[in-house]
Amino acid sequence: MSHFEVIKKELTKTSYTWLVTGVAGFIGSHLLEFLLAHNQKVIGIDNFATGNQANIQPFLGSPLFKFYESDIRDAHACAEVMPGVDFVLHQAALGSVPRSIKDPMATHDVNVTGFLNMLIAAKDAGVKRFVYASSSSVYGDSPILPKVEIHQGNPLSPYAVSKMTNELYAKAFSNCYDIETIGLRYFNVFGARQDPNGQYAAVIPLWVKALLQKEPVYINGDGETSRDFCYVKNVVQANILAATTQNKEAVNTAYNVAVGDQTSLNQLYLALTERLKIKGAGPIYRDFRAGDVRHSLASIEKAQNLLGYKPTHKIDAGLDEAIKWYQNHVV
Ligand SMILES: NC(=O)c1ccc[n+]([C@@H]2O[C@H](COP(=O)([O-])OP(=O)(O)OC[C@H]3O[C@@H](n4cnc5c(N)ncnc54)[C@H](O)[C@@H]3O)[C@@H](O)[C@H]2O)c1
Repeated sequence: MSHFEVIKKELTKTSYTWLVTGVAGFIGSHLLEFLLAHNQKVIGIDNFATGNQANIQPFLGSPLFKFYESDIRDAHACAEVMPGVDFVLHQAALGSVPRSIKDPMATHDVNVTGFLNMLIAAKDAGVKRFVYASSSSVYGDSPILPKVEIHQGNPLSPYAVSKMTNELYAKAFSNCYDIETIGLRYFNVFGARQDPNGQYAAVIPLWVKALLQKEPVYINGDGETSRDFCYVKNVVQANILAATTQNKEAVNTAYNVAVGDQTSLNQLYLALTERLKIKGAGPIYRDFRAGDVRHSLASIEKAQNLLGYKPTHKIDAGLDEAIKWYQNHVV
């Protein structure tokens, strides 16, 4: 039995209270779904900036779930939801590198000030652990592959700065206030409920929607840009392991959360068109996008060794599940 299977069994025996911020978003709603399915109490907070009411609608009737429509930029709102919370899974943020280049202040307000509000509220309430979404963007211009946690580069965007700052604050708070924190550096997460709409949509939902609607697919650059695409169920696993680990060597640090495989955009295009059985006109290549890193591939050894993380889904298995969802939900 994998370590995660053991933890899942234990969870069903003890009911903790979890705070999931950004609960109406893509990853937050998967954390919510998992926790409720394992008999955990969940407090959720979201202001619907990029999240969606439909993502939480099926869970609103659960007696285990309490939702607050609040903004993490409001320190009082953060403090209000914290009493009685055992674990924080902080996901609320404005994602997207291009968004942060267009409006760095908005990214700073939510991703840095909002993060600090949450961290202070968690520290004041004495939560057991504060687990938060960091990002592979913290590797910036470092050419080292695979990405290993200790080798960070210079940030390439305001978004990267915001996530690096989160990690610095978490470290400082662990030192100054004795609160346990764990940062999870997600690498290109995908899966059901990831928003395919809007100018900042991630590549997989964007392309699946375009292919389903017989619209053109654009590739920024030559298509040899690569990513370590990580199915959302692996991300849920990492969060639960990070929150519950009893290994004291494992806390107050950050981990890559990925699969450890590299897929180019050209390969991704083929994988999607094969699954959707679409023989399109082929992708349209255009300029590289500012702030994007060329290659991304994670070493997941640290999470494997210290948290017992073992991804259950490689990209192919994840795409099979995700595409089914988009086929039923993209009109
Ligand atoms: N999806 C990825 O590939 C990826 C990769 C690296 C890091 N991350 C990080 O993971 C986290 C979750 O990302 P996601 O993909 O689920 O994005 P998402 O946009 O679907 O979810 C973010 C949620 O936060 C909420 N939110 C934003 N501003 C808020 C505010 N001021 N107050 C309250 N709620 C607010 C949004 O409404 C949304 O529901 C983010 O911190 C993101 O930076 C995601």
